[in-house]
Amino acid sequence: MPSADVRFPEGFVWGAATSSYQIEGAVTEDGRGASIWDTFSHTPGTIANGDTGDVASDHYHRFRDDIGLMRELGLTGYRFSVAWPRIFPEGRGRPYPAGLDFYKRLVDELLLAGIEPFLTLYHWDLPQALQDAGGWEHRDTVSRFAEFAHTMAVALDTEVGQWITVNEPWVASILGNLHGIHAPGKRDLKAALQVAHHLLVAHGEAVGALRAELPATAKIGIALSLTHTEPFGDSQADAEAAEREDGFINRWFLDPLYRGRYPDDMWEWYGEAVPEVRATDLATISVPTDFMGINYYFRDVVAYDRSERPVEARSIVPAGQPVTAVGWEVYPPGLYETLTRVHRDYAPALIHITENGAAFEDRLIDGRVDDPERESYIHRHLHEVHRAIAAGVPVGGYFVWSLLDNFEWSAGYAIRFGIVYVDYATQARTVKRSGHWYAEAARENGISS
Ligand code: FCB
Repeated sequence: MPSADVRFPEGFVWGAATSSYQIEGAVTEDGRGASIWDTFSHTPGTIANGDTGDVASDHYHRFRDDIGLMRELGLTGYRFSVAWPRIFPEGRGRPYPAGLDFYKRLVDELLLAGIEPFLTLYHWDLPQALQDAGGWEHRDTVSRFAEFAHTMAVALDTEVGQWITVNEPWVASILGNLHGIHAPGKRDLKAALQVAHHLLVAHGEAVGALRAELPATAKIGIALSLTHTEPFGDSQADAEAAEREDGFINRWFLDPLYRGRYPDDMWEWYGEAVPEVRATDLATISVPTDFMGINYYFRDVVAYDRSERPVEARSIVPAGQPVTAVGWEVYPPGLYETLTRVHRDYAPALIHITENGAAFEDRLIDGRVDDPERESYIHRHLHEVHRAIAAGVPVGGYFVWSLLDNFEWSAGYAIRFGIVYVDYATQARTVKRSGHWYAEAARENGISS
């Protein structure tokens, strides 16, 4: 790589992200209870090739080696999530010591390696016992989550300085409860919007629970899946569809979090499907936080289509545009647009890119994985991050999705996002070309122009 002439601010976090169900495996070990993803992935027809997270990337057993790899790569931050059913196998009651111990060991090892832990509390593996009692549609789950947050804060108060409450409430609520392609597999707009609301209230209550326990220096935020929406054509109908899509995916979450209210246009659009909101909920949701996590993958170009639920907007990849192995458009400027828009309209104190990355078809040949497309994807998106920083957006870090190839939800293991290749037959790890490139960028604290 030509030497880095595009430099990031001192202390910029060069990280990688994962989540518990996607990498850990060991789903019945040390008392772990079942999560909704165990149930969902074991339901025939839900996941490509019938894959499940039973073994995944076997990280539960290999976390020391994986941290060794991160150290070799020179990463300065690692974002992981806690499997809630390891801590509360039945969703309530006493925390399970063996579950807590795993995360204590993980965090100790990270600190020894000089890697800052960024802990996500909820990356979608709700204890099945709570789902049986109504799941996120049910208000009680919010209280159980606050309890879980409190428990983790007590266990890791001085070790973990960076906390993320909920990962992607849009994906968890909509893909899981409207489109039915994620756990728990429902198809009901009203249920989905109630789930979304409860995830937001759960975020707010968890912030309170964490602040009560953690040192004043602890930083707390939420990770949102945001996109940059654009109308496909010049028609008024497309322009309005794009505005609704923005409302559906972005503003429905950003407005309550940063303005303490749901957006009027969307509230009206959803009509009968709007969630039940208690008097103090919006104050709870809009509690100030220390940073916003943004997960960005692609832009969303939309055309008006009456048949598309729920906002009559159809996403289209413009002809000729490059796409990844999952068909997502590669559009780095959308990250700049997203960052500058969020800064202008919502002004979070600090932003971390908590996920960004790409799936491509990787092959292990002679001990090497040559993935120039992923390298280029990451490189170009980092450029946009840098451009946003230069334009005054406070971005503190970047976490590539993902450290390892892993269980990519309904796509199973067919889809690879890692900068480290996992051979699932042997669990051997091989740093991909993109991983070597990323290590160099981290070392230089910069990239080439
Ligand atoms: C995000 C998820 C993450 C991973 C990437 C590809 O929506 O947060 O777990 O699946 O997409």
